Amino acid sequence: MDNTERTLIFNKAKEFVHEAGERIRKKIDDPRTIETKSNRNDLVTEMDQNTEKFFAEKIKEEFPEHLLFGEEGFGDDIKDLTGTVWIVDPIDGTMNFVHQKRNFAISVGIYTDGIGEVGIIYDVMQDVMYTALREGGAYKNGEKLAELTYKKPIEESIIALNTTWLLPENPHIDHIGVGNLVKTIRSTRSYGSAALELVYVAEGILDGYLTMSLMPWDIAAGRIIIEEVGGIVTTADGLELDMLNRTSMMASHPQIHSGVIEEFVTLKK
Ligand code: IPD
Ligand code: CA
Ligand code: CA
Ligand code: CA
Repeated sequence: MDNTERTLIFNKAKEFVHEAGERIRKKIDDPRTIETKSNRNDLVTEMDQNTEKFFAEKIKEEFPEHLLFGEEGFGDDIKDLTGTVWIVDPIDGTMNFVHQKRNFAISVGIYTDGIGEVGIIYDVMQDVMYTALREGGAYKNGEKLAELTYKKPIEESIIALNTTWLLPENPHIDHIGVGNLVKTIRSTRSYGSAALELVYVAEGILDGYLTMSLMPWDIAAGRIIIEEVGGIVTTADGLELDMLNRTSMMASHPQIHSGVIEEFVTLKK
């Protein structure tokens, strides 16, 4: 993809995201139709679906040759990342959207032949947009984010994680290791939106985000944004992320990444 084409796609994508965000904000106090998906706490609303449909229509209209890989199933049947694929989470943090009416985001990552070119994460209620272009730096409302080059010992880190990973019966990770991590670091946070947790790592207000179960649309934009400030994003055992299937993830400041994985993470097989 050449620069002119990429800039055009980037500008259109920002326009779509702003418009989608505006539509959500206007209807934030409307009565909601809430359904559940895989379990009673896995929520979906008509707003998640309508927002994804909005992206599907816009992409088809402006870029008919591009594909959409979205959470709610209004996109294409994606088997690989050949061509230009928009990986979209129309509302990341649906539970926050439903219960708190804040702390949710629209996440759009645009990949060409598997390479992340454009990342956009929009905190809808705060009207804050994080963006990145590959090898072009990362920005928060147009202001460049600093590189994660400062010193960061594990003991002085704040890491986002879900308290579920501390339960002995969780099927993914040895909970004793996670407990030791909690005791070692400065503190934990849990915001309920993977996309926001990723941009907070990029911004340096979190030092890491460790999670056991995310889908490509949770990660697609955030990984581009973090990598642009020198952060590291891998699976929780340090491998390359799979951008087509469910995965674990450790995203962090470069200085704590391998230490956290080696000292505290043991995945259950
Ligand atoms: C969820 C959020 C949440 C994370 C879940 C995701 P959704 O996305 O990012 O923080 O813990 O794993 O599924 O369903 O609200 O788009
Ligand atoms: Ca969901
Ligand atoms: Ca999500
Ligand atoms: Ca979602």
